[in-house]
Amino acid sequence: MKFVGLVGSNYDQSYNRKLLEFIRRHFKLKFELEVLEIDEVPMFNQDEKWDESFQLRYLYNKITRADGVIIATPEHNHTISASLKSVLEWLSYEVHPFENKPVMIVGASYYDQGTSRAQVHLRKILDAPGVNAYTLPGNEFLLGKAKEAFDVDGNITNEGTVNFLETCLDNFVKYVGVVSKLKKPKPIAPEDLYCTKPIATTIQGVDPDDPEWVEKAAELVGAVSGDTYVKLDHGILTVNQIDMFLKAMPFELTYADDNNQFLYYNNAHQDPNTMYGKRVRVQAGSRLGTVHASLPPERMKNVEWVVGVLRNGDQEYVRTIVPGTPEGVINTHNYKAMYYPDGSYAGINEIIFNFQPWLDWYLETTGQRLVGGNAAAPAGGHGDADATSGASDAGDAGGHGGGADATAGASY
Ligand SMILES: Cc1cc2nc3c(=O)[nH]c(=O)nc-3n(C[C@H](O)[C@H](O)[C@H](O)COP(=O)(O)O)c2cc1C
Repeated sequence: MKFVGLVGSNYDQSYNRKLLEFIRRHFKLKFELEVLEIDEVPMFNQDEKWDESFQLRYLYNKITRADGVIIATPEHNHTISASLKSVLEWLSYEVHPFENKPVMIVGASYYDQGTSRAQVHLRKILDAPGVNAYTLPGNEFLLGKAKEAFDVDGNITNEGTVNFLETCLDNFVKYVGVVSKLKKPKPIAPEDLYCTKPIATTIQGVDPDDPEWVEKAAELVGAVSGDTYVKLDHGILTVNQIDMFLKAMPFELTYADDNNQFLYYNNAHQDPNTMYGKRVRVQAGSRLGTVHASLPPERMKNVEWVVGVLRNGDQEYVRTIVPGTPEGVINTHNYKAMYYPDGSYAGINEIIFNFQPWLDWYLETTGQRLVGGNAAAPAGGHGDADATSGASDAGDAGGHGGGADATAGASY
């Protein structure tokens, strides 16, 4: 499960941040927690636009995609902090990321009552129309005497307190599991698979479907190549090194941007007929609509559906096993959303690989074997495993019917 934790304070030395950081570290095997800050959010103002604030956009995108939210509230004058209230106003006015979202409340304060009055107020606020969060009744964690509660490493020292916190978090995890079953899929807006609206990074002046798009577009923008250094998020590589690195990946990788333009694949050196998801060189740069032009209309709907659920945040990835692949092959396609720095949708990275050798290696290394049965199917995934025949059921992209089709050279 993926949770986000909202630090309800803009104080540098915030005890509520300490509390969330402790939860993140100490319970990392139970769930993933990303701690989010509110310190740069401007005071709510109806005259201004929420999405002009980078931090608000980030909060909106992260909350929308999280399975649950943990808010750590301070207590100021017997209620929540003005900074937290302001964030909740922004995020309940023109946008509503908390709607039907499971939220757990925790809080740390200096005195004995440990934010009890602030928490009562916060519950009411979360109930308000426009916010409409789901909170589990009675599940409250109050950390009093916050100054004495942590050791120098930021760990809560009292074992009983940690155990009680764990009980509250376990309750919340169960609650999120139940609430997620009530979750209705978000509507999927029609996808512009023909890239009619260029985005900031679209290379204009060359037809995306031009078979020589890579060469022509590279010339237009003066793309660097060869031994020119490129500074990445954390590292420096030459273009040649990036190419070698990507080609050596034991996966077929593709990248389509948020404008549905198929920009790149890493196996252009390989015979397309040996690939698990057939790609051909002239497809680089093409519109997704063109790449999948040979698909019947109902399969094109699948393409739209995969892009749509990743774009609207309903799913972070879609996994499918391509049906009808030969024995010894589990043809696995994994589509994952990519994000811009503010957390908004930036396109798809697709990883295609034969899962069978990985599975064989794992079973051999651990001395285990598959016994079949009816394991619960994960969302968008597959239940039964069958060691003898490889993939044992038909690929089904997120329960949408159909799935991918390697023979048609289309993997969505
Ligand atoms: C303006 C203000 C009002 C406060 N009011 C309360 C209060 O009503 N109850 C309380 O327990 N602590 C109160 N405190 C102390 C907070 O518990 C303490 O500042 C705590 O560190 C706030 O959480 P933070 O460290 O995450 O910002 C107040 C602090 C400030 C700055």
